[in-house]
Amino acid sequence: MERTTTTISPADVERQLDFCQKVAAVTAQWPQQPLAFVDTYGCQQNEADSERIRGYLAQMGFGFTTDEEKARVIVINTCAIREHAEQRVLGNVGALVHVKRRHPEQLICLCGCMMQEPSVAEKIRQSYRHVDLVFGPHALWKFPEMVHTLLTQRGRIFQNADEAGSIAEGIPVVRQDKVKAWVSIMYGCNNFCTYCIVPYVRGRERSRKPEDILAEVEGLVAEGYKDITLLGQNVNSYGKDLEEPMDFADLLEKVNAIPGDFLIRFMTSHPKDATHKLFETMARCEKVAPVLHLPFQAGNDRVLKAMNRRHTRAEYLDKIRDLKSLIPDIVLTSDIIVGFPGETTEEFEDTLKVLEEVRFDALFTFIFSPRPGTPAAKMEDPMSHEEKLQNFNRLLALQDAISEEKHGAYVGKTVRCLVDGFSDDSRWDLTARTPGNRLVRVVGGKEAVGQFRDVKITGANKWSLFGELV
Ligand code: SAH
Ligand code: SF4
Ligand code: F3S
Repeated sequence: MERTTTTISPADVERQLDFCQKVAAVTAQWPQQPLAFVDTYGCQQNEADSERIRGYLAQMGFGFTTDEEKARVIVINTCAIREHAEQRVLGNVGALVHVKRRHPEQLICLCGCMMQEPSVAEKIRQSYRHVDLVFGPHALWKFPEMVHTLLTQRGRIFQNADEAGSIAEGIPVVRQDKVKAWVSIMYGCNNFCTYCIVPYVRGRERSRKPEDILAEVEGLVAEGYKDITLLGQNVNSYGKDLEEPMDFADLLEKVNAIPGDFLIRFMTSHPKDATHKLFETMARCEKVAPVLHLPFQAGNDRVLKAMNRRHTRAEYLDKIRDLKSLIPDIVLTSDIIVGFPGETTEEFEDTLKVLEEVRFDALFTFIFSPRPGTPAAKMEDPMSHEEKLQNFNRLLALQDAISEEKHGAYVGKTVRCLVDGFSDDSRWDLTARTPGNRLVRVVGGKEAVGQFRDVKITGANKWSLFGELV
């Protein structure tokens, strides 16, 4: 099916804001301000979507809670990337039956990537009858209208048709953080890696207009945000679909030109589209953080081909060498899948070789999880789970040693870090991030939160650094 992007018109978004006002007129009559609980699973993309859902809810007159007993509206924003993530969601949704029995007026809404899977939506329809509203990422922009319908009429709503995907500008946001912000620059994915469900649930790649992105970043900088992450499933193919095509490196350059003291990060980059021009731009633009998340998934070329990654190990390593020659202190992170169908232990060892050569600062590692409807779910998968787990543990042990060594190299140095919050560990007061996004637990006064400060690194382990404000 040919898929084209639908742009939601400003008038259509305006109409949704009118629905917010209509709901606000209803909630204003209630004895006290109603509260909403928005619970988010999955990636930053989902976090960003939840901020828009909160934005709409705030306009409808809702405050926020994390206590499901106190919530008049519960929204669970779900992730479909692995089976484990789905089971957690279904377990929690199942448990809400009891909560709703105590609060029959409660509205339970499920959204996000899982809801765009027809089989999941059907399961909710049949077996989770306490759920009032189901909508996929494509229908998020219509959330106020759906809430209005539920409050004024009885019944359940399912809005999860398969669509090309849309772009809607002007949806209000309530952000979770005052220092760091997400800015989606594009939605969807065209890559169809054979293990991955994202292209099926998030639709085709579509880019926001550069002027909309720049205006959003300018607004954030004016509000005092210091750390801005540009988001997309594959940011390196940004702009190919625009009326006036532009590439991601050019966008970075424009964001970098916005005046102010802030850092620019971005994720995720696909190795096949990460270019020398991008690396050069990163090296030249002083606000672009010296960090790259570049997933390579597997180190063996046969496996990469079966994954439809469209890059080889040698191509990947060449890009890393090029990048390191331009930015010697670059912080590198990656995603890896262990136990892709048919991957032998010998092939898996090629992944270990990449770790040894690149020496990543940190990794996100996953055991393959078959996703219904993806090609890999139908592939022969003879290796036992125990053997996969053994390989997975070898990978973790190697990376732990590398992370510990890399973190150890910071000890004694003074690094300009962004102090981003309070430490949940009582031995430390604050948390901070190095430019390369390594976590630092810091001793120092709370007035530093939200500022760039020099931190003297006094210790390290495999997970984080420790230090004190200078
Ligand atoms: N768009 C990004 C990441 C998307 S999902 C990219 O291309 O890199 C984040 C990570 O989840 C992927 O990089 C991959 O390592 C992992 N992942 C995706 N599908 C998976 C599956 N079926 N089983 C296990 N891990 C998976
Ligand atoms: Fe999934 Fe591949 Fe797209 Fe990433 S690039 S979202 S792994 S299909
Ligand atoms: Fe999960 Fe959807 Fe993100 S499947 S990883 S929340 S794009």
